[in-house]
Amino acid sequence: MILVTGGAGYIGSHTVKELRERGEEVVVYDNLSTGHIEAVGDAHFVKGDLFDTELLKKTFKDYKVDSVIHFAAYSLVGESMTNPAKYYHNNVAGTLSLLDAMLAENVKYLVFSSSAATYGDAGDGLITEDSPQNPTSVYGQTKLMMEQFMADYDKAYGMKYVALRYFNAAGAHVSGEIGEAHNPESHLIPLILQVPNGKREFISVFGEDYPTPDGTCVRDYIHVTDLADAHIKALEYLKNGGRSTHYNLGNGNGFSVKEVIDTVEKVVGKKINRKIAERRAGDPASLVSSSDKIKKELGWKPKFDSLEAIVATAWQWHSTHKDGFDK
Ligand code: UFG
Repeated sequence: MILVTGGAGYIGSHTVKELRERGEEVVVYDNLSTGHIEAVGDAHFVKGDLFDTELLKKTFKDYKVDSVIHFAAYSLVGESMTNPAKYYHNNVAGTLSLLDAMLAENVKYLVFSSSAATYGDAGDGLITEDSPQNPTSVYGQTKLMMEQFMADYDKAYGMKYVALRYFNAAGAHVSGEIGEAHNPESHLIPLILQVPNGKREFISVFGEDYPTPDGTCVRDYIHVTDLADAHIKALEYLKNGGRSTHYNLGNGNGFSVKEVIDTVEKVVGKKINRKIAERRAGDPASLVSSSDKIKKELGWKPKFDSLEAIVATAWQWHSTHKDGFDK
């Protein structure tokens, strides 16, 4: 049995769906603070907090858990700068509680959602797993600290982990059944889609004076089901005796904020009003991934390799679920 923390959240729920489609037994552990019970599907569900080490231990025992995929975390770069306490408590202390429960119950395998935000401002080239990690945000710092705990727990206790450093997760499941539903929304693509959905008059472009070709921030957008597939491959790798390691996950193509808005206009077939606004604190200018390592070592390959295809799945979800799961 695989325990998925944060399995009611955006990337977690897509991974749970993919696991279930492949016939895996899954128990979702989520406090539903930002997740949605509707996104859990037919997996087992335990409502619980990461800080509840005793409930985690009980869940490991009750469901005979042998491995964990750990998504549960707060993940907003901007908020982490204004409320660092929330991020250090939940992401860092919460992960320690999970690791301690795993140790107590002898659960040895962990796939963990890390982030491109651990690299910080890495220049405009492709980022590899060996690029320096100097986070520019508290959020990125919490993910880096979590990676460090895992490395130490492996050395001392033999707990095996794969840290997946995602770039910008985007899109929705092709079935149209689940998708991105943050409240309030802060991510670029769903916010742009609120304009054609009639929920927002314009999209704000955060900064036009970055050292990038058009002055707006460049990101590497990766489809959420491609991320899900990578988690499953990483877990299989660990169960087959693989060593602890780190992988980047992106498409290897950078798109500026303006290019993303242009792509949405094309997919939706409507003009999107835009306004230039101030920079947002904590945002690096450019984050683009080299994902060669996971391609070579685990045979992972993204199915959605164009931004248009990714945005089309996001539009399918958002145009039919204007208020997320409360439609
Ligand atoms: N942006 C705007 N206007 C908006 C919202 C966002 O211009 O209204 C810009 C941001 O400044 C940024 C880009 O669009 O340059 C993407 O912003 P998102 O908030 O969608 O995503 P981030 O790049 O900030 O962060 C996301 C995840 C993090 C993860 C990071 C890794 O939220 O968890 O990707 O790249 F760490």
